[in-house]
This record gives sequence, C-alpha cells and structure tokens, in this order.
Amino acid sequence: MRKTTFLVPLLFFVLQFELERLQKALIIKRPPNQFVSWKETDKKKTYWIIKKHHLFNMKYALVTGGSRGIGRAICIKLASMGYPVLINFQSNKDAAEDAKDEIERAGGRAELMKFNVCSKEEVDDAINRWEEKHKDDYIEVLVNNAGIRRDNVMFMMSDEDWHSVIDTTLNGFFHLTRRLLKHMMPRKRGGRIINIASLSGVKGLPGQTNYSAAKAALIGATKALAQEVAPRNVTVNAIAPGFIETDMTKNLPEESLKKLIPIGRFGKPEEVAALVAFLASDEASYITGEVININGGLYT
Ligand SMILES: NC(=O)c1ccc[n+]([C@@H]2O[C@H](COP(=O)([O-])OP(=O)(O)OC[C@H]3O[C@@H](n4cnc5c(N)ncnc54)[C@H](OP(=O)(O)O)[C@@H]3O)[C@@H](O)[C@H]2O)c1
Repeated sequence: MRKTTFLVPLLFFVLQFELERLQKALIIKRPPNQFVSWKETDKKKTYWIIKKHHLFNMKYALVTGGSRGIGRAICIKLASMGYPVLINFQSNKDAAEDAKDEIERAGGRAELMKFNVCSKEEVDDAINRWEEKHKDDYIEVLVNNAGIRRDNVMFMMSDEDWHSVIDTTLNGFFHLTRRLLKHMMPRKRGGRIINIASLSGVKGLPGQTNYSAAKAALIGATKALAQEVAPRNVTVNAIAPGFIETDMTKNLPEESLKKLIPIGRFGKPEEVAALVAFLASDEASYITGEVININGGLYT
C-alpha cells in the first residue's frame, strides 16, 4: 500500500516530464498548428495523449485592415505558415470574404472580425466575443496594419482629416495592442507585434503632416514598447514601406513617382507580407524595436 502511494506520484512525474520533452521535440519541427496524424510512427502517437491544454491550444494571427491591399497579402502569407488568421475589416465585407475564400481554397483557416480600430468599445467587444468562443486559444501574432491617408497641405487641413488619420494608425495600435498584450506576456513563446508604419513617418512627406505624424508616433511607440515587453518574449517591430501597389496608392501619379525609386517600380503587397512573415517566425526572435524600410531604395 505504502509502495503504491509513493510510486504513483513518481510515475506521474516521470511521464509528465517525458511527454513535455517529446512535445517540444515535435513542435520545433513543424509549423505552429499542424497536428501529428494518428497514422504516423508509434513514437508520434504518444503526442495525442499529451495534455489537452497543449494539444488544442491554437495560436492565431490577427491582422487589422486584413481585407485589402497589404493586410490581405499578410493574411494569406501568415495562413500559408500554418496560422489560423483573423481578418479584421471596417466596412468592406465583400473584400474580407474574398480574402477568407482565398485562404481556405489554399487549405488555410481564417475568420472575419469586423470592427473599427478607432473604437475602443468595438475592439474590446470583438476580442471578448472571440475569447468566449476560443477558451484554449490565443492570439500570438498581431499585425497593426489598418491605416488611412487624408492628404492636404497643413494650412488647409480639416480637423476631421487630422484626427481620423491619427486615430486609425495610433489609437488603433493602442486599442489592439493593450488588449492583446496581457495574453501574450504570460506565454512561453510570448508574442509578435508588427506595426505597419511608412516611409512618410521616417522621412516626413509634404502634404502628409497628419499621416507622417501618425506613422512617426507609431515608430516611437514601437521602440518604447519593445523595451518594455522584451523580458516577456514579446517582440515589437515596425515596417516602413515606400510606395506599394494598393487601393491607397492607385490615384498617385505612378509613372512620375517611380522615376524617383532606384529599383524603378512600386513594391507589391506580397513583398511587404514576406517581411512580416519573417518577423513572425522563430528566426526573428532576437529582433525587436527595429524599423525595417522596404522602399526600393527610395530612402535609406
Ligand atoms: N500602399 C502604400 O503605398 C503604403 C505605404 C506605406 C505604408 N502603408 C500602410 O500600410 C497599411 C495598409 O495600407 P494599404 O495600402 O494596404 O491600404 P488599403 O488598400 O487602403 O487598405 C486599408 C485596409 O485598412 C482597413 N481599415 C481602414 N480603416 C480602418 C479602421 N478604422 N478599422 C479597421 N480597418 C480599417 C480597410 O478595411 P475596409 O476594407 O473595411 O475598408 C482595409 O482593409 C496602412 O497602414 C498604410 O498606411 C501603405
């Protein structure tokens, strides 16, 4: 009787230790959410009896403004890495549905999440509802991508144009990041926050004081937050694109602008998405507080 009392906890301890070791060994070799098939080797079968908590704990990526342009390309890329993706949009549901369909056709997983990043209430409400339905899951990668442009020279700029641009980029970043940080920080792998800034926020562009101010502030916030949360394995980086072919730039004089770009063309959303994918990957775990330019040599 006494022997059994002693042996049971010991056995339990050894088993637990072995299973966690095996789990780690298997996890490093595969993308975030791909489960091991039952038909694989005997050794891998053991994976199935690892605690439910570990097995069904899904790591998601949330991309604000994921319905169109750069955000859409980021959603598709992160889904191809194995992340189930949360596609946020504000109003264009057809575009968001289209992005979701494209991910699913390629075998990935995606959910739509409608909210205005400027509204703290809408953000909190959407995340609360998602968390209710996903008790064992968490959002490991946050891409603060939603942004708008309302260009004008300063002396003619309306209050609305000033505030809406700052609100979308800067307050959007604040609402989402603060809400999700408390879930990233206690996790072993922490999390990844990737902020889509702009060349305009690095260099400053005439006719864009509102946009340059918002993006420069986002860069400042990136650098400060990176230092704050680095000890909790959360990395925070910014990407500063130059001219990228999207709805945002479709009314610009492309022919004359591309003469200023050493590479001689606008960038593609997929080129920005590839950089986001790298920053979200394990290979980038020692990069934080950085601002990475992607602009065809326009400004270095
Ligand atoms: N394109 C460029 O050359 C360029 C260069 C540098 C930086 N950037 C930055 O890159 C990011 C993406 O730009 P883009 O060119 O892909 O823009 P885009 O094609 O105009 O797409 C903007 C996306 O943001 C969403 N959005 C806008 N306001 C929102 C809000 N309040 N709440 C939630 N979603 C909102 C839109 O959703 P709906 O579909 O619902 O409207 C859409 O998905 C922006 O931050 C932009 O400033 C772009």
